Amino acid sequence: MALISEELNKAFNAQIKEELDSGYLYLGMSIWLKEHNFENLANWYWIQAKEEFEHAEKFWKYIIETGGTVELLELKKPKSDWKSVEEILKAGLAHEQYITNKITELWKLAEKLKELQPRSLLQWFINEQIEEEANATALIEIHVAYKNDMLFDRHVHREDD
Ligand code: FEO
Repeated sequence: MALISEELNKAFNAQIKEELDSGYLYLGMSIWLKEHNFENLANWYWIQAKEEFEHAEKFWKYIIETGGTVELLELKKPKSDWKSVEEILKAGLAHEQYITNKITELWKLAEKLKELQPRSLLQWFINEQIEEEANATALIEIHVAYKNDMLFDRHVHREDD
């Protein structure tokens, strides 16, 4: 018998899609930024996109380890008609807040189902979302301080973990 319940399995499959959608969204942002010569910011979002694929991996690995069934759902076409760097930065934060809510819902669902096994996995994501929102907020604040998109881009620096 699987250690993961059908209900949580279904919710985790939905979260795999959310994480992949996140990666796709950030990839689109990265491409727009690259096309507009914001090299460092493009790199920042590209690294973010890859991180989201790693987040998806944590969920599908957990489902397999607990004897569940991974189902890959259809991805959402990401927004691509960005108007400005500011719009991208704000959309990035709003998206992370949306994901934080999704993770909180998963925690509540596991509690309701009295499934203790995914606690450490979900706790990792709760901590990760604090970092994700803090990073997105910091980008917005630094952008405001620079008052200039190109100067801001020169300041942005991020390397693969
Ligand atoms: Fe996987 Fe950026 O949250």
